[in-house]
Amino acid sequence: MVQNKVFMYKSVPDGWPVPGKDLTVEDIGFDEAAPPPKGGFTTKNLYATYDPSQRGRMRHETVKSYSPAMAVGKPVVSVHVLGKVLKSDTPKIKEGSTVLMMSHYTEEYSAVPESAVKSTQVIEPKPGVPLTAYLGLMGMTGMTAYGSLHEIGQPKRGDVILVSAAAGAVGQAVGQIARQEGLHVIGSVGDDKKLDFIINELGFSSGFNYKKENISDAVKRLAPDGIDIYYDNVGGELLDVALANMKDFGRIVACGTISTYNDGSNSTRYGVQNYSAVVRKRLRWQGFIVYDPTIIRWKKERDEKVAQWIADGSFKSVDYVTHGMDHAVEGFLGMLKGENLGKSILKVADSES
Ligand SMILES: NC(=O)c1ccc[n+]([C@@H]2O[C@H](COP(=O)([O-])OP(=O)(O)OC[C@H]3O[C@@H](n4cnc5c(N)ncnc54)[C@H](OP(=O)(O)O)[C@@H]3O)[C@@H](O)[C@H]2O)c1
Repeated sequence: MVQNKVFMYKSVPDGWPVPGKDLTVEDIGFDEAAPPPKGGFTTKNLYATYDPSQRGRMRHETVKSYSPAMAVGKPVVSVHVLGKVLKSDTPKIKEGSTVLMMSHYTEEYSAVPESAVKSTQVIEPKPGVPLTAYLGLMGMTGMTAYGSLHEIGQPKRGDVILVSAAAGAVGQAVGQIARQEGLHVIGSVGDDKKLDFIINELGFSSGFNYKKENISDAVKRLAPDGIDIYYDNVGGELLDVALANMKDFGRIVACGTISTYNDGSNSTRYGVQNYSAVVRKRLRWQGFIVYDPTIIRWKKERDEKVAQWIADGSFKSVDYVTHGMDHAVEGFLGMLKGENLGKSILKVADSES
């Protein structure tokens, strides 16, 4: 047996997850000598993604949503885990190949059953595209950004777009795609370093720090004629301000509401006040989940364009890496708190070791 440390889900959090109580790191061991599962394979894992949606799955199993609640007493489920194949019992997955496993336990080693082979993607790296890009811009995050911006946002050259959580994984992708397609891109972030980053590194037109400046003043200052598209990652007060500043026939892409994810049973929920703008301004306001067919249908175009933009240097794939399973809990909480910049990932092991 070798050590197999996992990011463990111990109990359903009420509000912010408590390290050591709700979330821990434990060694569950892995039998390297054992054969792979019948029709499946085994891996040594290199990276796991952190995603805000993981917090949504840390709930009581009776609460229904688009994805099932995580099972208490099992490792935390990552949206994607990237691993090297050790042994295989299926011709579809070769030993030594690099694979991307979907909705997979956050662990150092995995024994993957036959049932998961279908949803496993064998990575064939493209020149100039780093492996970690398959966890971000070339993965679910980039798909979220590309598909929803085009399907719901319907961007046109010259449109003004406001992007919230703009230095985060989805936000930086949306902003760069919009910039590439000739939009005027405004970003909202919670930190001055992030503000500098989106403007000077990612080429946003402008931005503001919502923790320092009155949000309404900032949006009026940066979009005096109004907003055509609001890309909403956060909900809450910024959504309200966006509603008040939308142009007629504007579009709101409802991607996420991270400002509410750690509300506990005693929290008071933010109540949107400017809802009537939806009717007055004839807005289109639509939510989505990345796996919706209307979003996934943009995959081929995303794969081609984003790979080309990364390879030719016009697009940045920026990651925020937490090193080692021992730090898995703090990396996850840091992502929820906004201590990240770019796509948050956990580096589980070096590919060489
Ligand atoms: N619909 C879908 O299929 C889908 C798919 C993927 C992601 N999403 C959603 O997209 C959003 C962004 O996800 P991501 O993976 O790109 O995460 P991320 O942006 O990399 O990380 C989360 C960011 O949220 C911001 N944040 C945290 N608390 C906040 C608050 N109270 N108010 C405003 N901002 C806050 C922080 O940035 P600051 O420091 O700037 O505050 C933090 O960096 C999330 O809401 C997620 O649930 C939806």
